[in-house]
Amino acid sequence: MNKRNILIGLGIIFILIQFIQTDKTNPETRPGQDLIEVTNPPAEVVRIMKTACYDCHSHETKYPWYSYITPVNFWLKGHIEEGRENLNFSTWNSQTPDKAKHKLEESAEETRQKHMPLTPYWMMHWEAKLSPEERETLASWFDDIKKAYK
Ligand code: HEC
Repeated sequence: MNKRNILIGLGIIFILIQFIQTDKTNPETRPGQDLIEVTNPPAEVVRIMKTACYDCHSHETKYPWYSYITPVNFWLKGHIEEGRENLNFSTWNSQTPDKAKHKLEESAEETRQKHMPLTPYWMMHWEAKLSPEERETLASWFDDIKKAYK
């Protein structure tokens, strides 16, 4: 096989794998379960959570155009599944108060330490690259809400 045929072959494979798509149906949201719904945070906190956390930690994922490109879609699906498994704001009220408290503690910590949102995420969503002020606004709100669980 010469180089040209190899390239054509790879091109055909790339086109064919585009037909293998991931399921992008969001799981259902139930009234009275979502963190924002049950705590009614200030508008700024809602904005930050919706732009920087909800795509991976809720059932309200918004899928960008490149989430239809195979194999990028499988990589994103992995982040979303793992994100929801670890922390799910859409099913917030179905966990025990102890667990909720612990998740709030971790959320404040991950936000302050710049571990969240994940780097590849804000590189593709510039509005999710949080400023030090936005991090502190969000983290101290998590701290405040945690007090309600004592
Ligand atoms: C691109 C997807 C994505 C975004 C956006 C994102 N996360 Fe995560 N998050 C993950 C994944 C994947 C994990 C699990 C693996 C890890 O810890 O790195 C995780 C883990 C966590 C954990 C640890 C939970 C535990 O029990 O260990 C917390 C807390 C968290 N995220 C909070 C947040 C907050 C707060 C935001 C918004 C400021 C956010 N995340 C944005 C994907 C995301």
